Amino acid sequence: MADFKGYYNYYYYLCVFVILTTTTSCSMATTSPSDVIKGAYWPSGASDLPPSSIDTTLFTHIYYAFLSPNNVTFKFDISNSTASMLLDFTSTLHAKKPPVKTLFSIGGAGEDLSIFSKMVSSGHSRRSFIESSIEVARKFGFNGIDLDWESPQNPKEMENLGLLLHEWRAMVHKESKATGQAPLLLTAAMYFSVDFFLYDVQRSYPVDSIGKNLDWINAMCYDYHGGWETSTTGAQAALFDPKSNVSTSYGLQSWITAGLPPSKLIMGLPLYGRTWQLKDPRSHDVGAPTVGVGPGSDGVLTYSMVEAFNKVNNAMVVYDMETVSTYSIAGTSWIGYDDTKSTIVKIKFAQALGLREYFFWAVNGDYNWKISTQG
Ligand SMILES: *[C@@H]1O[C@H](CO)[C@@H](O)[C@H](O)[C@H]1NC(C)=O
Ligand SMILES: *[C@@H]1O[C@H](CO)[C@@H](O)[C@H](O)[C@H]1NC(C)=O
Ligand SMILES: *[C@@H]1O[C@H](CO)[C@@H](O)[C@H](O)[C@H]1NC(C)=O
Repeated sequence: MADFKGYYNYYYYLCVFVILTTTTSCSMATTSPSDVIKGAYWPSGASDLPPSSIDTTLFTHIYYAFLSPNNVTFKFDISNSTASMLLDFTSTLHAKKPPVKTLFSIGGAGEDLSIFSKMVSSGHSRRSFIESSIEVARKFGFNGIDLDWESPQNPKEMENLGLLLHEWRAMVHKESKATGQAPLLLTAAMYFSVDFFLYDVQRSYPVDSIGKNLDWINAMCYDYHGGWETSTTGAQAALFDPKSNVSTSYGLQSWITAGLPPSKLIMGLPLYGRTWQLKDPRSHDVGAPTVGVGPGSDGVLTYSMVEAFNKVNNAMVVYDMETVSTYSIAGTSWIGYDDTKSTIVKIKFAQALGLREYFFWAVNGDYNWKISTQG
């Protein structure tokens, strides 16, 4: 056992050495720098940051969040006001220097889950949904489509998701051949881990279909802890957690171990923090006792608001090396988030794994592009 460990360490350090001393690393062989994705979601109608104000030097892909299919026909009914927003989004972002690619994202955390579970359950409804999604993408000039189903609830829905992705890819391919246009990108936002190991209903994503049919996935590496856990503070997007598997390092590794190529994996980075009220301000570590949620609506503050909070309250800012996260404390208020320091470490981690890199939720949460520039 000890010998095995010795060999393991040897090869580990050898690999690190190779990464440090050559320009092409062991794991990055499949991703050339020009393929790197720096994505961000734009919550539709974000009046604090219209598409024209997005600094496109910092991103390669911007997602319009969200559109919902009709819950009976599974087609997209686009109102006139939505239509003008979609057109403004794509035309503005494609005309910027440099331009970015655009996708529209379907669903989101607030979506009625029964829409997806019904839609994927039959070939007929999957087809309506797929055809309508492609029509919307072309009509409004998007480069691709992103599925944000949060999340399939059981193994059957996971299997049906696999079928949907297979049929979607086939239709995208067929449409591209028929029209001579570049194929639409097809991506999805997914849970941080390939398995839903915290839930009563155990289920895993259909990795084979995902790897074959999607261009990449956006792993949502955040919301690990929040105001719903009333008794202790937590690092909501911890890179490491010595006590549990609820961490970005575990989640990303689980996808790779399950067979998803790292070049199809994108790490999520939050541009927001989660807040608590400390029981005793003298005890303020990650995991310190709390009495409830802190400032912000539902205990959530965008990074911009955290910066403002820190300034106004002269907060103490602490970098937690163990979890690779940041927190600030002012009085009994405690905010866990990522600042530039933790973000840089996470991006380096993603690069060492050979990932296609990162995306942010959400683009309007940054403060003067302080974090978005770290890539
Ligand atoms: C569809 O959505 C509408 C509006 O939200 C709701 O009133 C209706 O009950 C839903 N129908 C089904 C079949 O879920
Ligand atoms: C939506 O736009 C179409 C075409 O421009 C127009 O004919 C229709 O009257 C508009 N509908 C509403 C509800 O404004
Ligand atoms: C983490 O996951 C591994 C398997 O992937 C398991 O062996 C281990 O017990 C888990 N650790 C915790 C703390 O749950």
